[in-house]
Amino acid sequence: RDGKTANALSEQEAWEEQQIRKSRLQFGSMDRGQRGDEYELLFDDGVEFVRSTVMAGTAPADDDDTAAAAAADEYHAEAMDAKATLQDERKTLPVYKLKDDLLKAIDEHQVLIVVGETGSGKTTQIPQYLHEVGYTAGGRKKVACTQPRRVAAMSVAARVAEEMGVKLGHEVGYSIRFEDCTSEKTVIKYMTDGMLLREFLGEPDLGSYSVVVVDEAHERTLATDILFGLVKDIARLRPDMKLLISSATLNADKFSDFFDAAPVFRIPGRRFEVGIHYTVAPEADYIDATWDTEAAAAANGKVTELVICPIYANLPAELQAKIFEPTPTGVLKVVLATNIADAETPYNPRTAMESFLVAPPAPAGARKVVLATNIAETSLTIDGIKYVVDPGFCKVKSYNPRTGMESLVVAPVSRASAEQRAGRSGRTGPGECFRLYTEYNFVSDLDDDAVPEIQRSNLASVVLALKALGINDLVGFDFMDPPPAESLLRALEELFALGALNSRGELTKTGRRMAEFPLDPMLSKAIVASERYGCSEEVITIAAMLSTGNAVFYRPRDKRVHADAARRAFHAGNAGDHVALLNVYNAWAESGYSPQWCRESFVQHRTMRRARDVRDQLGALLERVEIAPCSSAGGGDLDAVRKAVTAGYFRHAARLQRDGSYRAVKSRQTVFVHPSSGVAQAPPRWALYHELVLTTKEYMRQVTELKPEWLVEIAPHYYERKDVDEPEPKKKTAAATPQEQTTAGSTPTKQTPNLNSFFD
Ligand code: CDP
Ligand code: MG
Repeated sequence: RDGKTANALSEQEAWEEQQIRKSRLQFGSMDRGQRGDEYELLFDDGVEFVRSTVMAGTAPADDDDTAAAAAADEYHAEAMDAKATLQDERKTLPVYKLKDDLLKAIDEHQVLIVVGETGSGKTTQIPQYLHEVGYTAGGRKKVACTQPRRVAAMSVAARVAEEMGVKLGHEVGYSIRFEDCTSEKTVIKYMTDGMLLREFLGEPDLGSYSVVVVDEAHERTLATDILFGLVKDIARLRPDMKLLISSATLNADKFSDFFDAAPVFRIPGRRFEVGIHYTVAPEADYIDATWDTEAAAAANGKVTELVICPIYANLPAELQAKIFEPTPTGVLKVVLATNIADAETPYNPRTAMESFLVAPPAPAGARKVVLATNIAETSLTIDGIKYVVDPGFCKVKSYNPRTGMESLVVAPVSRASAEQRAGRSGRTGPGECFRLYTEYNFVSDLDDDAVPEIQRSNLASVVLALKALGINDLVGFDFMDPPPAESLLRALEELFALGALNSRGELTKTGRRMAEFPLDPMLSKAIVASERYGCSEEVITIAAMLSTGNAVFYRPRDKRVHADAARRAFHAGNAGDHVALLNVYNAWAESGYSPQWCRESFVQHRTMRRARDVRDQLGALLERVEIAPCSSAGGGDLDAVRKAVTAGYFRHAARLQRDGSYRAVKSRQTVFVHPSSGVAQAPPRWALYHELVLTTKEYMRQVTELKPEWLVEIAPHYYERKDVDEPEPKKKTAAATPQEQTTAGSTPTKQTPNLNSFFD
């Protein structure tokens, strides 16, 4: 057993070494064969491309690098001239020319579909126009603009506040899960689609909004799809409300059809020519190929210094902002529209990424590389991008209603996404896009559009929200594309098992309370159940720690021994990871929330600050659902805490097998303790886990010991005596393990996300 843990740890170390090796980019050299209609780019490392198509540009195109660099320089010189030119810059956006027509169309129609290429100014400009012409009624009404992603909501709000010359959070603000940066003054509110969904709970007619802009509608996120049905409904009740559905150039007719033939307002695009290159043969390792291509693309002679800017939701705001900063002369920006920033890691992706991606200040003659998830496809516009490397993959959420497993799968992009990615490079000058797949793949293998998230998600949290809104007839709900009946059924079953619904499918008091928490229903249930076990203080702490989505501990390479020792101290008594998180938080609180304490304990201060914030908000919500703050003897009664957690996570119970693996009690899936878990050294016979992550194996993350009798006591409708009584299965395990992993699980190539970060 110990050998196993050691193996997993060395896998992790091997991975870290590999990442560090990759980060020391080996610069290849690029040889631009003969010029002409078709020429080849040959790279040292053997990634071979053929240029085969060119995306038409509407701006004067020039294939010459120096002209492109000059154009970019000019652009940045302007941008750096700050405030005075900010207003001029607004006027150069394609939407500006159509301002009057657009406002007229909005005036004449209650619902309008607005379509325009990314970067045309839809998100930043339209809410400002609406404000300027009085839709905000002198501060009495608000304009809402939804974004599928937190990063986009925050950065766009910051940009608009800057353009309007106001402080962020005053007239212009944003609202994302656990972070409300708005005030009484706020008239333009950017928010995640999930947050607008939650606002329906407090204000079912959205009466404080005069206009709702459902932005990035083409992304078809789960929350956006639900919003479609809800806003369509309230638009009928509120003739005074305007509804804009805004989208990149995809699918406009479908939106129009859904919204009763609403007119489509098109903003003509503006872009330079983009050369499209395909690999000659498929690439075996897209990450390696990406690095090689980036390095080769950069080897144009004049730029050498490298500034790397990762971008993803949990990255601190200071680092996020780096992607928007102009790069000095000799600009060359490369966006890697890949999943690297999301990390292909067996261990602690975010810290690992951050530990080597420290963005230094940009020296003159620098090139900038932006590592992005598909956030850079449409949600964010980064100017000055010259090259795009598109590995052709994206991570998509996938859900298997049969097993109830939700996972992140690396899947080929859709053709629509590939075009979006390519288009990111032609905005301020001619660009080049390197597709790490063949033209044949592009034409024959890729789907036109991605499957909407609603058809590949666990719907429990959405169904709970709809039930709380009084929408009982889910089958009759006005879906643009209905979810599979099986997923709906599964969600109802899950909510029933959690006690959120009664056998008639109606919301119970528990369910009503659960719906108040912007958390996964299992975590909400644990909080609601904490009342019964007298430990609400402890459980909201644990919930807050679990919800930060960030790593709690860090482990500097040169201080591993100390870091590990510090970490073990929180695991005293082998009480499990949930309790360890509680111990960390309480110790930090006792230190007076000291950053110094964090450094000494190898705990991330930033994560802790966020946890404190989240905890405060959960505390306020507890009050709202009338659960008194209570503590199980200052945390002394840990069984109470563990029982409350079990009340939410009983479906995640697993039992130790002879070979050191675990088997999930109900789904019979074979799973393993994650090497980062405190219980990895002494695995308990019965365990409860927070989530599964697939890296090299199906790992349980955040594991706590469980008493089997609790399962029957706490979830009698889900577990029977025989599930927990029968002796450990005999020989079956060893033989069944390898097969079980591929057949009993959902999809073979799965990666479990921190789901919360995708849905807020
Ligand atoms: O929504 P759409 O894609 O049509 O465009 P947008 O997001 O409103 O962007 C319009 C312009 O604002 C682009 O030129 C962006 O570069 C700029 N922008 C920015 O500089 N910083 C942001 N955080 C967001 C947008
Ligand atoms: Mg936009």
